[in-house]
Amino acid sequence: MSNEPTPYERFGGAAFFEGLVHGFYERVARDQVLRPMYPDADLTEAERRLRLFLEQYWGGPKTYGDERGHPRLRMRHDPYPVDSVARDRWLVAMHDALVDQNPPQELGDELWQYFVDAAFAMQNVYDDRPSPFTAEADDEDGTDD
Ligand code: HEM
Repeated sequence: MSNEPTPYERFGGAAFFEGLVHGFYERVARDQVLRPMYPDADLTEAERRLRLFLEQYWGGPKTYGDERGHPRLRMRHDPYPVDSVARDRWLVAMHDALVDQNPPQELGDELWQYFVDAAFAMQNVYDDRPSPFTAEADDEDGTDD
């Protein structure tokens, strides 16, 4: 056993994840692309599932697994057509929720990179629209111009 804090603890534990996921779902509730994708009239349970998943993923309580079993997130998203527009709206909502939480830069960067990777992995309708969130810039000569 090590005494190293888990990422969950470094982020600030339950309060951080509650704030982040609540802020995210407030944005989903107002989003004309995302909101209709959620089957339930009330987003409370969806909010809880995402919060528990993230807490578990980052080394916190394992309640998600106890309640839902193996995450199999790509499979669980099969019923919802996640195209590039939905993916990017999801990311913008999460980005803004994350900024509201004002985490230390390094932790915020780590979490943001994870969300970008995860959201791209969840896309299941491919329309090849360029995204502001991919690292591959058009210019490949290594300069920033
Ligand atoms: C890319 C855009 C995404 C869209 C449009 C989307 C949409 C949805 C929808 C409509 C649901 C069903 C709502 C419900 O649980 O009642 C759902 C469930 C869920 N999503 Fe996503 N999602 C996206 C990306 C992600 C990402 C990146 C993660 C993780 C980092 C994630 C984690 C989850 C979890 C944990 C659930 C609940 C799974 C369960 O049933 O246990 N989603 N999502």
